[in-house]
Amino acid sequence: MEKSIQNAVLEQGMKYNSFYLYDEKTILEYTKRLKDSFEGVKFLYSVKNNPYINVVKTVFAQGFGADAASLNEVLLSEKLGLKEKEIYYSAPGKTENDIKGALGKAVITADSLNEIELINSAADEKGIIAQIGVRINPDFGFFGGKGTPSKFGIDEEQLFDNADKIKSFKNIKITGIHVHLHSQELNTELIKKYHNNMFGLVERVCNKLDVSLDFVNLGSGIGIPYAKYDKEADVKALGENIRKLCSIFKEKHENTQIFVETGRYAVGKSGYYACKVVDKKISCGKTFIILSSTLNGFIRPAIAHIIEKYAVDEFPAESEPFYTCKNAFGYIVLNNSDKTEKVTLCGSLCTSTDIIEEDIELKEMNIGDMLVMTNAGSYASVITPYQFASLPKAAQLMLMTDGSVINADE
Ligand SMILES: Cc1ncc(COP(=O)(O)O)c(C=O)c1O
Repeated sequence: MEKSIQNAVLEQGMKYNSFYLYDEKTILEYTKRLKDSFEGVKFLYSVKNNPYINVVKTVFAQGFGADAASLNEVLLSEKLGLKEKEIYYSAPGKTENDIKGALGKAVITADSLNEIELINSAADEKGIIAQIGVRINPDFGFFGGKGTPSKFGIDEEQLFDNADKIKSFKNIKITGIHVHLHSQELNTELIKKYHNNMFGLVERVCNKLDVSLDFVNLGSGIGIPYAKYDKEADVKALGENIRKLCSIFKEKHENTQIFVETGRYAVGKSGYYACKVVDKKISCGKTFIILSSTLNGFIRPAIAHIIEKYAVDEFPAESEPFYTCKNAFGYIVLNNSDKTEKVTLCGSLCTSTDIIEEDIELKEMNIGDMLVMTNAGSYASVITPYQFASLPKAAQLMLMTDGSVINADE
């Protein structure tokens, strides 16, 4: 952890017991890596992974559009200056109100045949023809083989079987497709194969539905290393693969834009969760460090502990965004101690599941010391149950490149 981040944590620790700190420099570095690697691709930021205003603003300022998963995320993206054709609203289970609220503010991606009808009716009421995307559950799987049942999107075959019905709707025009099958993949070859399959799907859609597309949204998939043994996905190779696919594709589909969505690649590494040692005790020879908020501050390490301790499988399958892998988070003690000790890290909730690590060797800690957890930029604060025990909510802070620390959400 860089000195500038350590200093910011120590300074903010005088005001707050528990807080997230997002590092602007890291966000700029990761978004630049993507832009430099993928020529001619437009990135959409998956707002749901970290929706705090100054984080989102920073990512949008790098030229990213929005992957919005709710009407609120559409409205936030609009408020932050994005135009209709820069906001893509895709999620299962949109209500009539969601659709009416988003029409004219975002490109809506229908997640089911029912939604296509709902959008058609809402557009009819408004007297417009809505240009929409459809989310497809394709005939191929991310890891190879055939497609599988999914709550997301419309099965490819079902979409084609309904082509005539879809064409009969007067107030919608399908101008894009969206697929997302898997997150947090580090195997570059697998992601490449998925992208190759996606370009095949586009041809089938254009032929069967008799449409030309404004956009093809390849979804996400690009992971980040969490554990020390994780190896980064090769984003340059992914960009090069898409460039090659596009060199043929663009001959026939000159005006089709290619989108890639990402949440965690843009901001996952930028986040740190800091909490304070509020008590220390020894029970039956075991040293317990009680931290200000763990399960109710940054839930993922606590979930990982539960899964790894109680799951029947030796290596439980990853289950994003709640569980990634063993040793996914680093723990950094901020004090000058030169001694270490074996401790159990836990929070102050009245449940024995509020433990994040047992018998881990760390620098010796005392009451008042700050402990920092890494990899806390994505699906971290947003999935944490803050209501539990009505304890104070973790603050959302951002370290700017000029050294200042601002509220990340104002
Ligand atoms: C449809 C869709 N797009 C994009 C993402 C973003 O994934 P990630 O943050 O891993 O890039 C997700 C994550 O679940 C998703 O469901």
